[in-house]
Amino acid sequence: MNDEPKVASEEQPRSFNNSYFRNHPQEAYKLLRQTTPVARAESAYDSGLVVTKHEDVLTVLRSPEVFSSDAAADVGQIRPLPPLEIDPPEHSKYRKLTDPLFSPKRVAALEGTTRELVIGLIEAIVGNGKANFHKAVAEPVPSIVFLQLLGLPVSRLPEFIELKDGIIRPPVQTMAERAEAVRATGAKIYAVLDEVVKDRVAEPRDDMISGFLDSEVDGHRLTVEEVIDICYLFFLAGLDTVTASLDCMITFLATHPERRQELLDDPALIPNAIEELLRWETPVSRVVRIATQDTELSGCPIAKGTSVSPALISANTDESFMARADEVDFHRETNKHLAFGGGVHRCLGSHLARMELRVVLEEWHARVPHYQIADGVDIQYSEGGLRQVDNLEIIW
Ligand code: HEM
Repeated sequence: MNDEPKVASEEQPRSFNNSYFRNHPQEAYKLLRQTTPVARAESAYDSGLVVTKHEDVLTVLRSPEVFSSDAAADVGQIRPLPPLEIDPPEHSKYRKLTDPLFSPKRVAALEGTTRELVIGLIEAIVGNGKANFHKAVAEPVPSIVFLQLLGLPVSRLPEFIELKDGIIRPPVQTMAERAEAVRATGAKIYAVLDEVVKDRVAEPRDDMISGFLDSEVDGHRLTVEEVIDICYLFFLAGLDTVTASLDCMITFLATHPERRQELLDDPALIPNAIEELLRWETPVSRVVRIATQDTELSGCPIAKGTSVSPALISANTDESFMARADEVDFHRETNKHLAFGGGVHRCLGSHLARMELRVVLEEWHARVPHYQIADGVDIQYSEGGLRQVDNLEIIW
């Protein structure tokens, strides 16, 4: 028997957005790692190669000269989005400017207002005995925190959520339809940001956009265009990822009462549980790069120009990376998961994300300790690699 892994070119392309990959990704990627560590993708959301083994995912993330981020993903942008789509060495200029704005100290200063917001949202539904957690908590919390931080009007929240969803999960059937949909939505986002950034140029305020316009690194100031581009990325990164993470975590805890009981018995375990659930659920399941030269991974040839997508969720659940990778264990001593990516593009917002997740899990379980998925609801994770659960109907 030939036990060599199959090379991607011998395989039929597959959709990573079918219900098996969306709803049972840990199991689906486990099978794929064993047979086809580098697989071909094809659907309205995917094309190119998907990399599934932990060591190959790390190689891609840590080799930006071979796997470039330059315009790697089509999210309706007209210029590369800094810092995500800028390769080193220029990338570090943008991180030097933006890192201080998301430092642990800055984030700690936001905890009080975030907690007030979270308590208000939970108190509004706690007497009902049921809710769509996605709509009632997971969506508004990070979106309101982030709009306030950026200096965008919270009164326009529904409009911004619709714009962000229009980029991340447009209702389309083909890649061509997707390209057209994100271009049209992207134009609307640019129009909003153009207006707000130009307002701040005319009249600075105490918000992040004014901070960007004012900051300087190595004698460089950001241009108005660069500030608009950074905000475009933040708009997508800040509004969707924490929502997806909360959806995944509450779905898991609603369906695993014994794990939830551990948090009720010892709320100090929540930060550990967050890391373990980020690993197991990996809400941003894949990221994307473009090969700058002919290369190979796990014996699979990769041609220059190919879109290469490291599957973070597969790396995080790879047995070669972590003992008992299939078990969710809130007591792990080390947990070097890749849910926030790795290498130079590792998530800028990880401190903010962790604070928001912790505050929600603390305040939610203090008020609603016992809950479950409502009868008859068939939980569905969304398409497009970011794992939201729109139909997260729970009862308590
Ligand atoms: C639990 C929530 C979050 C998760 C799981 C997450 C995940 C990720 C991942 C996987 C990457 C790497 C992308 C790549 O390598 O191509 C990334 C980058 C990034 N994230 Fe997050 N993120 C989260 C929250 C946030 C928040 C709240 C912000 C708000 C500022 C943010 C801003 C960014 C930015 C700006 C980058 C690009 C960094 C760079 O290229 O240097 N993220 N994030």
